Amino acid sequence: MKFFVDTADVDAIKELNDLGMVDGVTTNPSIIAKSGRNILEVTKEICDIVDGPVSAEVVATEADAMIAEGRKLAEIADNITVKVPLTWDGLKACKVLSSEGTMVNVTLCFSANQALLAAKAGATFISPFIGRLDDINLDGMDLIEDIRTIYDNYGFETQILAASIRSTNHMSDCAKIGADVATAPPAVIKAMANHVLTSKGLDAFLADIKKADIKIV
Ligand code: E4P
Repeated sequence: MKFFVDTADVDAIKELNDLGMVDGVTTNPSIIAKSGRNILEVTKEICDIVDGPVSAEVVATEADAMIAEGRKLAEIADNITVKVPLTWDGLKACKVLSSEGTMVNVTLCFSANQALLAAKAGATFISPFIGRLDDINLDGMDLIEDIRTIYDNYGFETQILAASIRSTNHMSDCAKIGADVATAPPAVIKAMANHVLTSKGLDAFLADIKKADIKIV
């Protein structure tokens, strides 16, 4: 499973990228607004750091305007993925932009039918939002499973990019189901390294070595 990092925090991206933990980056209008930076500038900086796809989202809602914004975003770098919302206009924009050779990430997906439409419109990625479904007492992971089944049934090449990830359990569940990509905030990716028995075991090892006064260097 590829790891995308869901942030516009350049320092956090650099740290994870240096460790080989970043296969791509996703942003959305809320993330860009939170960064307080110009969307074109911060996205360019991210594209210079990361080799993989970097999603930048349009803010227009009508197809022609989305296409114009998508073309402008695509000029930033070769690894730009234009993100469009899963509306009828978004699907139209997806079809045009993907036929021009631009990678497209169709976002705000909350149903298997929406994912089916995005695949038929030529999406490179479909972004089902797990956490926001969990928030309304549905099971976001069921959606990942349903999309995996449908895409596999028909050999769609659209990649399942599990989004709105809030916990480390979401990451392992996505990997078990076979999501192609999971995008998560830096804190969730870093938390995947934690285990209470690792901390406990290390404390015991360090206490023992201190008593024995053993040094390596
Ligand atoms: C990623 O592409 C999405 O924009 C993001 O994962 C949404 O996450 P949230 O539901 O935590 O805002």
